[in-house]
This record gives sequence, C-alpha cells and structure tokens, in this order.
Amino acid sequence: MKNWAMKLRSLDEQGMRRRLRTLEGAQGPRICMDGREVLLLCSNNYLGLAAHPLLVEASCEATRRYGAGSGASRLVSGTMELHSRLEERIAEFKGTEAALLFNSGYAANTGILQGLFGPGDLIFSDALNHASIIDGCRLCGARIRPYPHGDLQALEAMMEDESRARGKGRWLMVTDGVFSMDGDLAPLPGLVELKKRYGALLMVDDAHGTGVLGKTGRGTAEFLGCAGDIDLQMGTLGKALGGFGAYVAASRTLVDMLINSARSFIFSTSLPPSVLGAAMAAIDLVAGPQGVMLRKRLEENRRIFTNRLCGAGFDLLGSRSPIVPVLTREPKPTMEASMRLLEQGVFVQGIRPPTVPEGLCRLRATLMADHSTEEIASAAERIICTLEGLT
Ligand SMILES: Cc1ncc(COP(=O)(O)O)c(C=O)c1O
Repeated sequence: MKNWAMKLRSLDEQGMRRRLRTLEGAQGPRICMDGREVLLLCSNNYLGLAAHPLLVEASCEATRRYGAGSGASRLVSGTMELHSRLEERIAEFKGTEAALLFNSGYAANTGILQGLFGPGDLIFSDALNHASIIDGCRLCGARIRPYPHGDLQALEAMMEDESRARGKGRWLMVTDGVFSMDGDLAPLPGLVELKKRYGALLMVDDAHGTGVLGKTGRGTAEFLGCAGDIDLQMGTLGKALGGFGAYVAASRTLVDMLINSARSFIFSTSLPPSVLGAAMAAIDLVAGPQGVMLRKRLEENRRIFTNRLCGAGFDLLGSRSPIVPVLTREPKPTMEASMRLLEQGVFVQGIRPPTVPEGLCRLRATLMADHSTEEIASAAERIICTLEGLT
C-alpha cells in the first residue's frame, strides 16, 4: 500500500499522474463539465452518433423487446437473435463472409491474436500499434517483430531476412488503419503487396477508420482501395458508430476458429440488447445518405482546423484523419496548455508517455461532424495563442 502511495506521489511530482474527469449529461460537440459548458475536442464520437435520436430509440426498443441483459456468454446461452443479425449486417457492410462480435476493441484485439496465433508463428507489428494489439501479441506467445512506423522498406527487409530460414508457422502483419495517437493512415496497399509476396495474413484494426473513411464509411481499406485484401478487419462500435463493442469481419473459417479459441469471446458475458440495437441503427445510418453528409461535414472541419494550425507552423505529425495531434514535446507545457485551454472552454487532452514516446507529447484534438465551422476555427485560434503564449 505504502509503495503505491509513493508511486502516486512521484507521478504527481513529475506531472504524470492521470485523473478521471466526469461529464455531466450526454456526449455532444459541447458538453457540461464542473457545471460549465465546454467545447469537446477529445471524443472519438466523430459523427456525433453517441446521443443520436435514432440510436437512442433503437437502443430503447431493443431493451423493451429483449430485456436489459444477455444472461450468459455466447457459447452458453448468450447468443440472441440480435447478435446473429448484427453479425450478418457487419459482414455485409464490410464485404466479408462472416463477422464476430467482441465486447470491446481491447477484447477483440487480444482475443483475435491469442485465438489464431501462437508459439511458432511470427507477427510483424507496426511500432505505433494500439496497446490492445501489443497486449494481444504478448498474450499469444508468437514471436513479434515490431517494424518502424509505416515503413514498408524496413518491413520488407525484415520479411526478406526472416524468409531465409522460414519455418512452418504462420506469418501475420498487423496494423492500426488510422493510428490513434498520430491520426495518420497505414500504407495498406503496400502492406497488401507484401502480404501477397511473402504469404502472410494481414490484420487491420480500424477502430478509428470505421464510419469515418471511405465513400460508404467502411473504413481505411475502402478509402485506400484495398478492402477485399484484408484477412482480418477489426473495428469498434464505440467510436464513430456511437455505441459500444467491437467486431472482426473475416472468412467463415477464421470466425469459426475464433468462436472456438478466443478466450475474451468465450469467457465473457455477451453484449446486451441495448448495445446491439444501437449498433444496427448506427451501421444503417453510416452506410446511408446521412453518413455521406456527416463525413463531408467532418472532412470540412478537419480541413479548416489543420489549415489554421499548419499555417501557424505547428507539426501535426502527418495526420490525415479527424485525429489531429499538435506536437508539444514535453509533458509539463503539454499539460499546462491543456489546462489553460480548459479554462477558456476548450477541452482537449494532453498526451504523455507512456501513451506516446518521450519527447513526443502532444495535444490530441479529435474533431466531430457536428462541431460548427465557427467552433472549429475559434478552437484552432485558442490552441495557437495558448501554445505561443507558453514559449
Ligand atoms: C486503435 C484502437 N484499437 C482498439 C481500441 C480499443 O477499443 P475499445 O475502446 O472498444 O476497447 C482503441 C481504443 O481506444 C483504439 O484506439
């Protein structure tokens, strides 16, 4: 107990202690915090669906018809018709034979990797992959070769090197589609080429691309024109889709294997009806004309925001998505800027190690389709003034 208290004190002294912040009311472009309305620039609710009336109604209707809970894990008695229908809908949306729901993105990544790979297999993993992929890699016991972020040449050299003494194990390349801290995109067409050349599988975690990128919102692979070439398309229902949970879309064989092997799927109570109802409504919305309109608004906001910050000379780390990091480097000025911005009514998180490497602290702004143009432009100005005021 004493050690933990000391550890917390030491985190405090280094400006590294994390604390929870409570929002009052529903998620939206403006939220209420500590009795005050602030502009929300740090939510993954990119399309503003988290409190959308259609999702709320679908969620209530599913609860009225099917109850509040699912009662058991999927393989026991927790597979309700809503689970099966949603999985069919996701497979159709992603253009795959099958799909499987998981209780969260974290559970999906750890479950997929542990369920399909093991000792004797080799995983090539982008250095900036999400923590849940890293944990899944550790859990599965395969040999891991991290490759420098987005660097196809380095990856190819690694694969060439490994192919000299290749054993019988499977090879997997795994990457975020949109990188959660940098907002840049994985070079998916190049990864597809390498996967074909070296006989590897390709897994893409599209937590931040689903609903946001591509003509019909199918994600990063649709945006980059290689949707048919990804073996394991993981995505979440809790970010642009506004609800909660996650899925993998893949071949029937891979999905059936996961049903028999993924421990986070097997040993956990299944998603409740409310969440399934909301997800079904969200996919219909995202894939339809309203989805197109919301993505257009989001892209417009992204353009305005990044133009202003780039114009003022800030490094946005190659962001090509509504995740826009503004490089601030050191923890103290980063957290100071985040605090000063909150005082001015702009809620944007400062990101420090261990979430990002030392020296690469940043303000991580995330934009929403239902932020107004004025809100976005004025937030950009406040960020510029605040950061310039600190130097
Ligand atoms: C890239 C990425 N993958 C997976 C996850 C985990 O998803 P979930 O929040 O549904 O557990 C996140 C969440 O922040 C993420 O950013």
